[in-house]
Amino acid sequence: MTNYTSVHDVTDLDALVKEALHLKQNPYKYKHLGENRTLGLIFLNPSLRTRMSTQKAAVNLGMNVMVMNIDKEGWALETQEGAVMNGTTVEHIKDAAAVMGQYCDILGLRSFPKLQNREEDYSENLLQSFIRYSKVPVISLESATRHPLQSLADLITITENTPAGKRPKVVLTWAPHIKALPQCVANSFAEWMGRAAVDLVITQPQGFELAETFTRGAAITHNQQEALQDADFVYVKNWSAYEDYGKVLPDAQDWMLTNEKLQVSNNAKVMHCLPVRRNVELSDQILDGPNSLVLEQANNRTYAAQAVLKTLLNNYEV
Ligand code: CP
Repeated sequence: MTNYTSVHDVTDLDALVKEALHLKQNPYKYKHLGENRTLGLIFLNPSLRTRMSTQKAAVNLGMNVMVMNIDKEGWALETQEGAVMNGTTVEHIKDAAAVMGQYCDILGLRSFPKLQNREEDYSENLLQSFIRYSKVPVISLESATRHPLQSLADLITITENTPAGKRPKVVLTWAPHIKALPQCVANSFAEWMGRAAVDLVITQPQGFELAETFTRGAAITHNQQEALQDADFVYVKNWSAYEDYGKVLPDAQDWMLTNEKLQVSNNAKVMHCLPVRRNVELSDQILDGPNSLVLEQANNRTYAAQAVLKTLLNNYEV
């Protein structure tokens, strides 16, 4: 693993999940590994879980951590190659990333899509520029198209809650929301489940299909109730449209997940990456009920990040 930006950076998924579960049992065993190593966490957008869990993971491994909310504390970044910088941007990404790469051994970057220009968002220009110019391993803390630390934590959680030898039915269901959200959590979850030993069904309203590159191998239906039949896990998430890029669906409250809808499932466990809009995306009853895995998912964010950081730190020792 050179960088960690998607499931494609992972050679052996099972081994990475096993590593995370080992670290969950032995969080401080590798405290020596990060000695005199610095992780820089760069945020262009808000975060609770990613920021705190990745910081905790690094500290568990003995690393120093620097966190920068670059959108508020840094200079306004220019991303266009060859730009004449006589406007509002103050520092070019190639200079900023190169400097941060001198201060840090590993960098993490959170950069959401703007949801205005699909081609621009899906080019992942900012993340790729960080990789190109920092010259150190880069971890995606959620990019324009993917959220791989979340997806690893989700797979860890599904693994922990699946009896040995069983191939679970996992349903990713679209949920209502009041504003346009990125496709990245859903893209990433679909892509990871495509590599895992699960049967994935994705259900969403017409016009809210994800890009095919992420959903290969999944069954796709517009009928939510049909999708929920015999489900072992139900992952709830809103995303804005990929085709009519960034479009939202007003008055979609009938897509909110309720216990009533789950009656056809196999007593399904319910997942959400958080933050969640209660009683919009899914009901209080589910979130506070015995089948909710949302806090387990959030807890596993630490061990997902720790497994990734440990893998990258091990590379330094080679
Ligand atoms: N799930 C997740 O990434 O949470 P934050 O946005 O709070 O980091």
